[in-house]
Amino acid sequence: MKVAVIRKEHFNSAHRLYNPKWTDEKNEKVFGKCNNPNFHGHNYDLYVKLIGEPDPETGYVYDMKVLSDLIRDKVIQKFDHKNLNQDTDEFRSLNPTAENIAVVIWNILRKEIDPSLELKVTLYETERNIVEYPAD
Ligand code: NI
Repeated sequence: MKVAVIRKEHFNSAHRLYNPKWTDEKNEKVFGKCNNPNFHGHNYDLYVKLIGEPDPETGYVYDMKVLSDLIRDKVIQKFDHKNLNQDTDEFRSLNPTAENIAVVIWNILRKEIDPSLELKVTLYETERNIVEYPAD
């Protein structure tokens, strides 16, 4: 009897999408507004989903207070109100696309959560642009 639990969190970050191997023209063409040299912000909505069997004693798949604290301490504090390109080690040389942000967050949380639980990260960069990792 597997059950999914989902915690929603939120953070604001600035970024610039840019490939240093390309010309300015190509960067502008591919990344558009997200290539703005002086950066710009997004209001990210983050959904962290854990899937597993409810514990017979607590009835919980995972204590949501613990999950909330974990996301806050390991992810939100790291990225909220930061310039992802300049203020974080993770994106100093990794393009901070929604795809890469979702993978980075998944890797951070995966280390902290019991391997018996399946973990999925969904990141809304805008209301209409959403990424999921892993993809299945
Ligand atoms: Ni952007």
